[in-house]
Amino acid sequence: MLLTKDIIDEKNKILRQKSKEVTFPMDEKDKENIKLMVEYLHDSQIDEIAAKYSLRPGMGMSAVQIGVLKRYITIVHESSEGHFDTYVVVNPKIVSESKEKIYVEDGEGCLSINRETIGIVPRSARVTVEGYDIDGNKISIRAREELAIVFQHEIDHLNGILFIDRIDPKNPFKGKDTYRSI
Ligand code: NI
Repeated sequence: MLLTKDIIDEKNKILRQKSKEVTFPMDEKDKENIKLMVEYLHDSQIDEIAAKYSLRPGMGMSAVQIGVLKRYITIVHESSEGHFDTYVVVNPKIVSESKEKIYVEDGEGCLSINRETIGIVPRSARVTVEGYDIDGNKISIRAREELAIVFQHEIDHLNGILFIDRIDPKNPFKGKDTYRSI
């Protein structure tokens, strides 16, 4: 299983590199990585398992965070109490986004950023993401609110971007009154 210590920290510059497109059929190793990433995200959101293995809770993980510079992301989203939706998208791309911007009231988090951060990360309230499943079938996902933010955050990782890059350094709370908090 994947443990929190296996997730790459922002100090490692690999997180600043751009990940490469995946070609199909996918390598077995990548399919195995996806399984481990999804398992981590799921387990980390179950209190008893998270406590047992000291897993830092996370909703999303991109391949680069385990040191693989390939374009695939995994998201495990608790859509209702105790019910988790899993998303795996290979070569994901945002094909449309709302003009409306939102931000996480308590600040965004990332499994690769292990320090306190402050500030607003403006994100589109709704996005449509296109990409492929692990077998190379085309998929399209419409996401809103928290889930939309996670998709934007994970796709940023594939381009070497961390959420802290999107916070205005001179005015970290810029947009507080313009954008909607969730
Ligand atoms: Ni992250």
